Amino acid sequence: MSQPNAKASGSFTIGGDVTVNRLGYGAMRVTGQGIWGEPRDRAEAIRVLQRLPELGVDFIDTADSYGPFISEDLIAEALHPYDNVVVATKGGLTRSGPNIWEPVGRPEYLRQCVHMSLRRLKLEQIPLWQLHRIDTKVPRDEQFGAIKAFIDQGLILHAGLSQVSVEEIEAARQVFPVATVQNRYNLADRADEDVLDYCQANGIGFIPWFPLASGDLAKPGGAVDAVAKAHRATAGQVALAWILQRSPVMLPIPGTSSVKHLEENVGAADVSLTDDEFKQLDEAASKR
Ligand SMILES: NC(=O)c1ccc[n+]([C@@H]2O[C@H](COP(=O)([O-])OP(=O)(O)OC[C@H]3O[C@@H](n4cnc5c(N)ncnc54)[C@H](OP(=O)(O)O)[C@@H]3O)[C@@H](O)[C@H]2O)c1
Repeated sequence: MSQPNAKASGSFTIGGDVTVNRLGYGAMRVTGQGIWGEPRDRAEAIRVLQRLPELGVDFIDTADSYGPFISEDLIAEALHPYDNVVVATKGGLTRSGPNIWEPVGRPEYLRQCVHMSLRRLKLEQIPLWQLHRIDTKVPRDEQFGAIKAFIDQGLILHAGLSQVSVEEIEAARQVFPVATVQNRYNLADRADEDVLDYCQANGIGFIPWFPLASGDLAKPGGAVDAVAKAHRATAGQVALAWILQRSPVMLPIPGTSSVKHLEENVGAADVSLTDDEFKQLDEAASKR
C-alpha cells in the first residue's frame, strides 16, 4: 500500500506567500506529562518529527511554552534547516509548572519570546509567529503594536492570534495583518463557528487546535463509527476529514507522540466524505 501524503489535503497560502499542505502537525505532544519537560520516549519524538516531511506534512505548529522550550529544541534537532517545512511558533504564555499557563503580554516579554524562538529554532526569521493569548492585564493595542514592530523589523514574516473572538481579530487587523487564527475547534466542539466563518470570508488561515478532542474523537464507538466503516477508515481519520472539508482555510494540526498515530492521521487526507456523510456527522455531533 502506498504511504499517505498530506498533499492530498490540498494547500493553503498563509499571508499571501507561504504555501503549505493543509493537514499539518501540532508539536505540543513531544514533551512530558502536563506539557512539561522531556518526552517519555525522546527517540520516538525525533522519529515522529523526521517522518513529517516524508509524509508531505510541511506545516508544524509549536510554541515556546511547550516543555517549555523542549518542543522547539527537538524540532530544530530533528529538522533544521527545514527543507520546505514551515515551522510556526507562538509566544506570550509563561510556564511555572506542569499544566500551568500564565499569559504575559508586555511588549518587552513578547520581544524576548520572539528572539529566543529564533535562537532555539535556528532561524533568521519566523515564517509565522502567533500570540498565544491576548493578556488581559496589558492594553491589547500594546501587544498588537509589538507584533507590528516584529513584522516591520523582519523578525517574523507573518503573525497570527490564538483563542480570540471576531471583535479581537478586527481590532488586531487595525494594527497588523492577521495571517492566521488558532482556536479550539473540532467536530464535537464548534463554539467558534463565527470565527471560522470570519476567517474564511477574509482569507485568514484557521488553525483548529484539539482537532481530535485530545484523542476522544479517535476512539471507536463514537458518532463517526458508521462513516468510518464505510470508508474503511478510523474514527480519527473521519473526524479530521470532516474538519478539512468544513472550510478551505482550515489547517488542522493533530498532535501525537507516536509515528503510528502520525501515519494514521495523515491518512485522513485521503478520506473524502460525501455531502450526505458530511451533514450526517454535522448533525450527530451537534446532538452530543
Ligand atoms: N493555541 C492553543 O492554545 C493550543 C492549545 C492546545 C494545543 N494547541 C496545538 O494544537 C495541537 C493539537 O492539539 P492537541 O495535541 O492538544 O490535541 P489533539 O490533536 O486533538 O489530540 C492529541 C491527542 O490525541 C492522541 N492521538 C493523536 N492521534 C491519535 C490517533 N491516531 N489515535 C489515537 N490517539 C491519537 C494523542 O496521543 P498520542 O501521543 O498517544 O498519539 C494526543 O494525546 C497541539 O499539538 C498544539 O500544537 C494549541
